[in-house]
Amino acid sequence: MRFALLMPAAGSGVRLGAGTPKALLEMAGVPMFVWAVRSFVAFADCVEAVIAAPPDSVNAFQERVGKFFPKTNVQVVSGGSTRQQSVSLALRELRTDCEAVAIHDAARPLVSFELIQRVLDGLTDDVAAVVPGIPVADTLKRIGGRPPSIVATIDRQDLLAIQTPQVVRREIGVEAHRMAEETQFAATDDVALIEHFDLGETRVVEGDPRNFKITTQEDLDRARVLLERR
Ligand code: CTP
Ligand code: MG
Repeated sequence: MRFALLMPAAGSGVRLGAGTPKALLEMAGVPMFVWAVRSFVAFADCVEAVIAAPPDSVNAFQERVGKFFPKTNVQVVSGGSTRQQSVSLALRELRTDCEAVAIHDAARPLVSFELIQRVLDGLTDDVAAVVPGIPVADTLKRIGGRPPSIVATIDRQDLLAIQTPQVVRREIGVEAHRMAEETQFAATDDVALIEHFDLGETRVVEGDPRNFKITTQEDLDRARVLLERR
């Protein structure tokens, strides 16, 4: 199935505190967002990529795209003030008639071909969207009051921590974002919109602990070591 990569990369990386957009930080000599884009465009079915960059860094992203992907259909667009908005803006700019989109955070440069393939394979005819998930290792508790006391211990057996890439049928993704804008509904991932508006069956496949999101300096240090070994 022909698909497009949509990459939210418009965050500023406040928790990392590097002063430059997180996705532009170099890792083993290559900008963070380039690592993940490379893994997707290696698939013959990946017919295009749209990257949502911070509005004042569009040129800087474009320059890297020209250098690393001179012959690939990769465009850079101006992102929004939330991740959801950035995805929505990227979705509008598709140039091909692809049937699906793979939405992947620039902040997860360690994504593997195997994981991408597993998520794509999950999108069977009856499915609207597929996400990768990993078991939660820590015990989870609900807290309340101030100072906080424990209200409940949550059974983690049926909980998963959700990653990207999230593969969504294009038409359903467009509809989900349209409805979210109309009703001002916000969520932290795209598949949550499909769940909320009940637009189809959503599935989960096994995620990959190595596909962690780079949020803090510790995450960045750990990922740099892994990428230098590649
Ligand atoms: N993102 C985006 N547009 C925004 C905010 C976030 O495209 N307005 C993207 C980020 O670039 C990142 C992904 O969404 O690839 C996940 O966000 P996160 O890890 O929180 O990155 P930042 O928002 O940059 O980091 P922080 O929250 O620490 O500022
Ligand atoms: Mg953020």
